[in-house]
Amino acid sequence: MKFNNAAWISAPEGAQTCPLFKKQICLRGTVKKAELRATAMGMYRFFIDGKDVTDALFMPGWTDYVKRVQVQTYDVTRFFACCKEYAELSLLLGNGWASAEIFVGVVHPYIPRAAAIAELTLTYADGKKERFGTDKSWETWTNRCVYSELYMGETQDATLEPQRIGYAQETHVKAKLVPDEGEPVVEGEIVYPRALFTTPNGERVIDFGQNLAGYVRVKCRGPRGGKISFVPAEILDKDGNFYNGNYRNAANRCTYTLSGGEDEFKPVFSFQGFRYIRIDEYFSEDIDLSCFNAIAVHSDIKRTGRFVCGNEKINQLYSNIIWGQRSNYIDVPTDCPQRDERLGWTGDAQVFCRTAAINFDVHKFFRKWLHDLILDQHKNGSVESVIPIVKGIPFYPASGWSDAVTICPWEIYLAYGDKQLLSECYPAMCKWIEYIKNEENGSYIWNAGFHFGDWLATDAPYGSFSGATDTSLIDTAFYAYSLSIVIKAGNVLGKDTSGYRALQEKVVDAFRRKFIENGLPKGKPAVCGSSEQSTCYTQTALSLILHFGLGEEKDRKRQTDALVELIAQNGMRMTTGFLGTPYILHSLSENGRDDIAYSLLLQEKAPSWLFSVNMGATTMWEHWDGINEKGEVWNKDMNSFNHYAYGAVFDWIFGKAVGIQPLLPAYERVRICPHPDARLHFTDMAFDTRYGTLRAKWTFLPDGIQYEYEIPEGACAEIILPDGKKYEVSKGNYVFFTK
Ligand code: BGC
Repeated sequence: MKFNNAAWISAPEGAQTCPLFKKQICLRGTVKKAELRATAMGMYRFFIDGKDVTDALFMPGWTDYVKRVQVQTYDVTRFFACCKEYAELSLLLGNGWASAEIFVGVVHPYIPRAAAIAELTLTYADGKKERFGTDKSWETWTNRCVYSELYMGETQDATLEPQRIGYAQETHVKAKLVPDEGEPVVEGEIVYPRALFTTPNGERVIDFGQNLAGYVRVKCRGPRGGKISFVPAEILDKDGNFYNGNYRNAANRCTYTLSGGEDEFKPVFSFQGFRYIRIDEYFSEDIDLSCFNAIAVHSDIKRTGRFVCGNEKINQLYSNIIWGQRSNYIDVPTDCPQRDERLGWTGDAQVFCRTAAINFDVHKFFRKWLHDLILDQHKNGSVESVIPIVKGIPFYPASGWSDAVTICPWEIYLAYGDKQLLSECYPAMCKWIEYIKNEENGSYIWNAGFHFGDWLATDAPYGSFSGATDTSLIDTAFYAYSLSIVIKAGNVLGKDTSGYRALQEKVVDAFRRKFIENGLPKGKPAVCGSSEQSTCYTQTALSLILHFGLGEEKDRKRQTDALVELIAQNGMRMTTGFLGTPYILHSLSENGRDDIAYSLLLQEKAPSWLFSVNMGATTMWEHWDGINEKGEVWNKDMNSFNHYAYGAVFDWIFGKAVGIQPLLPAYERVRICPHPDARLHFTDMAFDTRYGTLRAKWTFLPDGIQYEYEIPEGACAEIILPDGKKYEVSKGNYVFFTK
């Protein structure tokens, strides 16, 4: 993509963080059509005669700006509807992702000073065209948005009289410009404040009742020069005091100076993750709660899944999963929205991908991110554990993280049937296998390099980040899993997969020899918080072995019994971290132990999903006991209360409890194989597929279980009920009953 008549511009030295560029233009006649193209190495908003034409937030979105920058095209004809002779074009520029502080202290990762480029093309009534592009004739002005940084927050001063401080500087930016392909980031749900209270420390705090990513909008009237300043938090500490220690270096402060008239403030280029705000400055003694609203901000993904069951705590867990996704799908799939991180961590993205595609339509969202991932893959096939790559910080490839390159395209293919995207990703998937192959160097056991392992599992001593599971077991398990996906994808695309099949056999064979003895994993069984040394005998190892099919068929029963025993020894609780948790319930259900799977789902003592629900969580926690029973935080540096990874449990609820599995991509053909359990009383799922809404419900009645299904037109289903009876159905409504 090219601009015909525009140059990249940035602010002169010494300008405020968010400069406003302005240009008056003369119009030659009646405008028939007006089209604007704009982008930035930073973030921008564009105005015509002071009216904001940018219909989404945080434009141009986050890509690896070194490799590609998205350009937005807007039809702005309506802004020229009345005949006028002049118009004022202006562009507000912020540091955004490209030029802000990203991660721990990495400043200006992609460009030292933010820059923008824009071009307005007018087509007059006589057919003649005229182009107005950014260049050094655009003036630079101060404006009320005095300071803005993603992590640091925003300062706006409504008393500030805009001043011209010179002209824009033309700057050279080497960037490949591509058409916008992501889902725009938009304002979503509005959350009204629930309470204003004073903490034991004497601080005034507003509770919005829901943890979310977005910002607070303040609408107020007060004395000119009066101030409002606040910082966010996700939790209160054990004494009920405001706690934001887990934000690390992200100051997240919003400070607004009032004009004296009616004011409305909200950040332009910053967002926060929060449930509470602490008001540090307020222009009058009494705080008017009605001035404050929280606005959720997320990619404009359409809700596709709705679930309710007969257990209120599970319903709350589901709500937490939905809010976790909303909060972390902000142009790229991120880990968390609050601390100095908010990065495209591939591990988090892959474990949650299937759940994400049940909850919302994430096809377009992932297509963009997968294109980033493909572009960011290194020549030797390695994929970093954060995508888009943040220039200046190498996030090395890691098993279970970088495998997002195989797992996500496959999940997205299954959900939406996009063969084109799968074929675009296929070469990258194969290159990733080549990378691992080089690393394992003929041993078929992958143990080279740094790996996160079973991140935040609780079978290692309290406080450590990596769980007890032997990392090379995890690495090799994911090697085999990625290979199995490449084989499936290759088969769909008509590729010769014989080489991968042979390799997978060798990897599985080597895995068995290295990690399994007499059908069970080698080493000492690990229990919660006790394993000083890594071992192969953990809940995560057994879950991977069972779910990825890495053991011998004859040993399945023994392995399942061993997993159940480990769970029982741990007080019917999990010890799994990021890489075991998504699979543990599946491994149990797939091997006849729904009873234990449900017990884990419904467990209320940590580590468990319902522990955080009982502690009042409204989003998913990063750590199983981010706050323990005594109300203490487990760790200051790694303790997000809005991390969706463990929300991946919903793909078990959907796929096993409700029992919907795609047999053909896009749910054209499904298997419905419910695993009902009286402890949930009923489950009721409505799921919008590409063919229409699929409904599935089971209910425990006094004399048996009733099943109700609705299959949309164009789709068909194989229904297998717990009594073993099988039905082939197509469009229509069906009711069944089992004793
Ligand atoms: C992130 C995780 C991520 C991890 C890598 C953390 O800082 O928040 O979610 O996957 O690092 O282990």
